[in-house]
Amino acid sequence: MVFNKKLENFNPFSKKDFISVEQITSLREIEYLFQIADLMKEAVEKKKKSFLLEDKTLVILFYQPSTRTFTSFQAAAQWLGCQRIIAIAGMEFYSSAVKGESLPDTIRTVEQTTNCDLIILRHPDDNSSEIAARYANVPVINAGSGKKEHPTQALLDLYTIRQKFGHFENLNIAMLGDLKNGRTVKSLSLLLGVVSSKISIVFVSPPELKIPKEFLEKLKEKGMKIKETENLEEVLPEIDVLYVTRIQKEWFENEEEYQKVKGSYVITPEIMKKAKRKMIVMHPLPRVDEIDFRFDSDPRAFYFYQIRNGLYIRMALIAAILGKF
Ligand code: NCD
Repeated sequence: MVFNKKLENFNPFSKKDFISVEQITSLREIEYLFQIADLMKEAVEKKKKSFLLEDKTLVILFYQPSTRTFTSFQAAAQWLGCQRIIAIAGMEFYSSAVKGESLPDTIRTVEQTTNCDLIILRHPDDNSSEIAARYANVPVINAGSGKKEHPTQALLDLYTIRQKFGHFENLNIAMLGDLKNGRTVKSLSLLLGVVSSKISIVFVSPPELKIPKEFLEKLKEKGMKIKETENLEEVLPEIDVLYVTRIQKEWFENEEEYQKVKGSYVITPEIMKKAKRKMIVMHPLPRVDEIDFRFDSDPRAFYFYQIRNGLYIRMALIAAILGKF
């Protein structure tokens, strides 16, 4: 892969962990990464061969289920020409964690067994990536930590919004669904606060699944325009981006609690008649029942298109962290 375009001499990601969107403090940092992602997109579309990471070794450890994040990180490394990728899904079942090994010990172990240059981690604990980064001698990328953060998802979500609208000014964004347990909404909301002060976010959920109060306060302190409601149809006509999320059954105390809120919101072609023609519907996926399959053919359904951006963003991030730009 040959990159002709000269990037400015500015790489805020070089040799660093990427644990939280809060590490990003300026639009310039985001634009830098998006510029690389644009190059990656072009390279993948033209099926260009890359040797960028041919000297590198990557470890990908997933302690929670995943389809998109796992396959796209792996594919990202391969598209960049990485020769040694140790990618393990189901760490919670198949690693020595089952025998009681701690995360710090597992991290120190894989560094020894693989001599890796980068570790990518998904884990159910909120602070897992920080802990891993503390013990690792190489950079760590957070591929989803507990209910708290999913920073690479936020980047690909933002990249998708930029592709559609070309800017971030004056957008009305609705976050819908399980705002209590979901991590993607939290990371994306924080990142939106970095790109523009003229974005308004409305959080739409059943009372049981509201976004945590402390988190909301944090956004308000940043000067963001925030609202909360239970009523989607009331706000829908004003929305530019409807970000739908799954009700996350795995975090519920019992089946009964889940059944109370299951199916609270279902996006159907009928409901979407109330929305703007130029808006988009996003979803980090997986979907269960919150978007009717019949809506998939609507030009506003962006969730499958959104997935591909995960490949480009993860390629860009890995390359930037490993100092290749
Ligand atoms: C999400 C996650 O794992 O946080 N999925 C993803 O990575 N795209 C959302 C979910 O599990 O519902």
